[in-house]
Amino acid sequence: MAESMKGLRRSHRCTELSNLNIGETVTVMGWVQKSRNKGGIIFVDLRDRSGILQIIFEEGDVGSEGFEKAEHLRSEFVIGVVGKVEARSGGINKDLLTGDIEIRANDIRILSEAETPPFPIEEDSKTKEELRLKYRYLDLRRPDLQRNLILRSKVANITRQFLLDEGFLEVETPMLTKSTPEGARDYLVPSRVHPGNFYALPQSPQLFKQLLMCAGYDRYFQIAKCFRDEDLRADRQPEFTQIDMELSFVDVDDVLDVNERLLHKMFKDSIGIDIPLPIQRMTYKEAMDRFGVDKPDTRFGMELKDVSDIVKSCGFGVFTTALDKGGSVRGINAEGQGDMPRKKIDALVNYAKDFGAKGLAYLAVNQDGTYKSSFAKFMTEDELGALVHAMDAKAGDLLFFAADDDEIVYAVLGNLRLELARNLGLLDKGEYKFLWVTEFPLLEYSEEEDRYVAKHHPFTMPMDEDLHLLDTEPGKVRAKAYDIVLNGTEIGGGSVRIYQREIQEKMFEVLGFSKEAAYDRFGFLMNAFKYGVPPHAGLAYGLDRLIMLMTKEDSIRDVIAFPKVKDASCLMTEAPNIVDDKQLKELGIDINNNEKE
Ligand code: AMO
Ligand code: AMP
Repeated sequence: MAESMKGLRRSHRCTELSNLNIGETVTVMGWVQKSRNKGGIIFVDLRDRSGILQIIFEEGDVGSEGFEKAEHLRSEFVIGVVGKVEARSGGINKDLLTGDIEIRANDIRILSEAETPPFPIEEDSKTKEELRLKYRYLDLRRPDLQRNLILRSKVANITRQFLLDEGFLEVETPMLTKSTPEGARDYLVPSRVHPGNFYALPQSPQLFKQLLMCAGYDRYFQIAKCFRDEDLRADRQPEFTQIDMELSFVDVDDVLDVNERLLHKMFKDSIGIDIPLPIQRMTYKEAMDRFGVDKPDTRFGMELKDVSDIVKSCGFGVFTTALDKGGSVRGINAEGQGDMPRKKIDALVNYAKDFGAKGLAYLAVNQDGTYKSSFAKFMTEDELGALVHAMDAKAGDLLFFAADDDEIVYAVLGNLRLELARNLGLLDKGEYKFLWVTEFPLLEYSEEEDRYVAKHHPFTMPMDEDLHLLDTEPGKVRAKAYDIVLNGTEIGGGSVRIYQREIQEKMFEVLGFSKEAAYDRFGFLMNAFKYGVPPHAGLAYGLDRLIMLMTKEDSIRDVIAFPKVKDASCLMTEAPNIVDDKQLKELGIDINNNEKE
């Protein structure tokens, strides 16, 4: 049976001890990582959140009863040990923080026994993620996850302190609220008091933070839970955390400036990375033209080149047809990859097809100046020469070309570029390349809804010089919206907000909302604007994504204590789940029986 703690009091965490403590009597507590019985002497690796410490049990020190207990120890037993710190008798273990000391036990309590865990508690686990998530409380004992969550706590703290010092106030906004317009599906919560009515969980604190600006709070921040019912990916969870902020009396540069300093402090004080300031800025248009995506990974080159002019009257129908239809022909140069085997090239062509390509043309420049190509036979020597020249290609290079509508060409080459970088090992997780992408389009056309939708959200301010296009060519209007991109991941985004009611109403009109519909959904914000509203702007980071990149993990699941899996369920608690008929009745909800699982 588990023993009591009576009279025992922990004096140190495992790795708080060092050779400076030699000779002291200490009390440590934790889990048995492993225990080795070498006859008259038992070695135990004791583990707590801080790390591992070696304990030595000999009958002469710990007594026969204590020694018997030590003999009984198995992995994951929870014990308390009183003993004396000594220099390590065996060789020094350089892999451990406490590798030059050990504790000679003179008392032991078994505080809790443990069954054999379903997988070993160890760094870099090879265990399948499903099993680990089912037993997340065991998974969380692993040192890598513990380090991730410790770093996460640290970054949140640095952020809080920085923003407080910059005059921000931390304010909490409601979780039970009305739909917020971030473009994903809402999670709904039924109301008992108002049967048939639902709260929505916030997709972000957007409307509330704008109201706080109306209320004169000047600078707000919150480390806020957000909820979005959308398809999950490695960097998307249904509930996630934003570092959310809003500032009054500012324009784009003010927001970018305070955030550059925040990022600098965050990276310096948490992982020792010195971000060079100012962070590079690039317009959306330039990002698309050079990288094919609005969140370019700038750790490597291989930029897109528009060769439409060069090939416009060449003999290759695939190119000229695309151009005739108003599209473009663009290419990338995989330098030095000219001898890539055909099989690998074919795999890349197939990869490109996932992004809508009808095909992918390639051309390798051989060392003798001849070409190996899928389309050389359709072009003259001169035409090929001009193309190779335009692509800055030299002997040994491999070129890929996509010909189609711009949208497809960008998607194909933007993704191909990343795939090549992954295959060629060009992506160093220890390198941190930040980029602001600015001047996003205000709107994008949704074929599905047959109307314009807001690219960021409907409260984003058009650029002053494009305001006049709102009526005539809404698709051309650029917005005072910006994203912060790190190594090809969008880690945050924001905008300057509309604060003039006339522009806001016009915006709703362009989005196809009637005045009534707009007031119905966002009336409280529009009304608030009647009573004196400061110009304001803001931004929100995805905290999970930031920590994922800082810890060099591939998924935000590795930096969230209790994440959900692809179908948005929690394997440990088995949420979501059915509820009692009584609960449903109270809520006035009748479940279609054949939909019950
Ligand atoms: P946005 O929708 O761009 O902006 O969200 C801000 C940041 O939140 C992160 N993020 C996510 N992280 C994990 N899982 C998700 N499902 C998920 N969705 C978004 C991203 C993203 O950059 N209210 C605005 C901000 C503003 O305008 O101030 C907003 O929410 O890193
Ligand atoms: P085809 O004449 O259709 O066999 O195509 C010749 C080459 O052009 C092949 O390598 C195709 O993969 C490539 N190709 C076909 N469509 C496109 C396209 N839209 N963009 C770039 N290359 C293409």
